[in-house]
Amino acid sequence: MPNRNLVIAIDGPAASGKSTTARLVAERLGYTYIDTGAMYRAVTLAVLRNGIDPADDSAVSALARNLQISFLRDPDSGELHTLLNGEDVWQQIRTPEVTRNVSAVSSYSGVRTPVVALQQQMGEQGGVVMDGRDIGTVVFPNADLKIFMVADLGARAARRHVELQHQGAEIGLDNLAIELSERDRHDSTRHHSPLRKADDAIEIDTSGLTIQQQVERVIELVQQRGAEQNAASVPE
Ligand code: DC
Repeated sequence: MPNRNLVIAIDGPAASGKSTTARLVAERLGYTYIDTGAMYRAVTLAVLRNGIDPADDSAVSALARNLQISFLRDPDSGELHTLLNGEDVWQQIRTPEVTRNVSAVSSYSGVRTPVVALQQQMGEQGGVVMDGRDIGTVVFPNADLKIFMVADLGARAARRHVELQHQGAEIGLDNLAIELSERDRHDSTRHHSPLRKADDAIEIDTSGLTIQQQVERVIELVQQRGAEQNAASVPE
């Protein structure tokens, strides 16, 4: 295991397996898992609750400046729950309505600037696995390990379908595929911090992998990186 607290960045498109993998990798390493998408979802929830048009950059940005986003560690799972002005919104940020609007809300620099600052503060001591879209490119461009997770659209839609079924929601596979590719297109073509593989990120295609295999692959890379860093720090 690495002997110091690394920053591990996992980026990639929606439903590529990032968050499940990141959570399990963090658990194995005794690190903190930080779901950065949850922060943009919390802002989106506030936008919708306040009746603000998600397409209105200045109204959304003004609201974002006055929001308080914080975290609470769940005593049972050890995971961080996102709090919006002190309220645990763990479940409310996963609704289809939030999912439909989060790409627009997260595209504004007025939203990204305070959220990115918070993420940098949370990761500055290391010992974190952070998943998102711009972690390796913008939030932690010097992260110790950068992973870019991809999977083909069919595999991603099928995974999201199973997840939603567990939550009791029935959305057709075709609609899910359309929704995912639309969100990816929006996230990759936006002006500020678009979804992009960092030049030094290692790509993992999870289309044919089980969750266990994804986790093992990342753990191997973490061990390799830790060993490289140890070797580099041994005095001659
Ligand atoms: O990971 P997720 O599906 O919960 O993310 C929701 C949205 O938030 C995603 O469509 C784009 C945005 N996001 C972002 O812009 N940057 C991040 N680091 C994480 C998420």
